Amino acid sequence: MNIISGRCIWITGASSGLGKALAIQLAEAGNFIIASARSQSALTELALLYPGKIKILPLDVSRNLDAKETAAKIRETTDYLDMVICAAGICEYEDDLKFNPDMYERTLDVNFLGVVRVLNIAMPLLKKAQTRPQFVAISSLSSCVGLPRAEAYGASKAALNYFMQSLRVDLSKIALDLSVVRPGFIATNLVKQNDFPMPFMMTPDVAARRIIKGIAERRFSIDLPYRLSWLLRTWGFFFSAWCAWVAPRITRIHQW
Ligand SMILES: NC(=O)c1ccc[n+]([C@@H]2O[C@H](COP(=O)([O-])OP(=O)(O)OC[C@H]3O[C@@H](n4cnc5c(N)ncnc54)[C@H](OP(=O)(O)O)[C@@H]3O)[C@@H](O)[C@H]2O)c1
Repeated sequence: MNIISGRCIWITGASSGLGKALAIQLAEAGNFIIASARSQSALTELALLYPGKIKILPLDVSRNLDAKETAAKIRETTDYLDMVICAAGICEYEDDLKFNPDMYERTLDVNFLGVVRVLNIAMPLLKKAQTRPQFVAISSLSSCVGLPRAEAYGASKAALNYFMQSLRVDLSKIALDLSVVRPGFIATNLVKQNDFPMPFMMTPDVAARRIIKGIAERRFSIDLPYRLSWLLRTWGFFFSAWCAWVAPRITRIHQW
């Protein structure tokens, strides 16, 4: 069985939800974790659970990120990274079709450009990895098919999927394995605002376990849970049918 142990892993979005569950399970498996997010207090609490195994690096992956300062701070701890997991993310909905550009900017800034910024900082350290390095981006199954109110969030995750696919092509001769994780619903702070049915909801612990298995197998596409992935990918394939039958039942927009 593939296991992930003895690696130096940088995780963003580690202060809560999925990123935190990944940090805990990977620390327990004997990895050294650099845990990032904006909330210093939540990260400190996490690090106290695993003294010596989790080092915190508070940061904001948005345009406020200072790349030089962050790179210097990581180098105070390590001169290599075996793996990076980008789990930092936000979700805002397009409630009234006002197309507020600030909301789109915020969402794409964190969910898409945040990943590019982290890779920019991590690349020199991944080149010095002690094992074959891995770069993992947390996308979403919402990117499989157009969902109501998800214009900004879904677009940010679809952009991430394309970025990772394109990167895979460019890195096809390079020893860096990529994974794009597309989860369905996970019971975290991110979905607390959701007032619609969330089928096949997973706990962060279960989701993290399945993701770690996929990463250990070095799979490029890690979709979970399989039932929801299959359903949404099928609808994405038959998009006209989705728009004709399902869309009128789930949209909240009834007039201009
Ligand atoms: N929950 C779901 O159903 C679901 C489904 C599909 C995909 N996902 C994806 O899974 C990832 C993790 O989300 P989650 O569900 O675990 O939600 P969560 O509990 O809200 O976690 C989001 C994490 O991102 C961090 N974060 C947000 N903005 C940041 C910024 N500007 N800079 C640095 N860190 C930032 C948050 O920490 P701070 O606030 O402390 O910065 C937190 O650690 C996200 O990429 C999300 O899109 C979630």
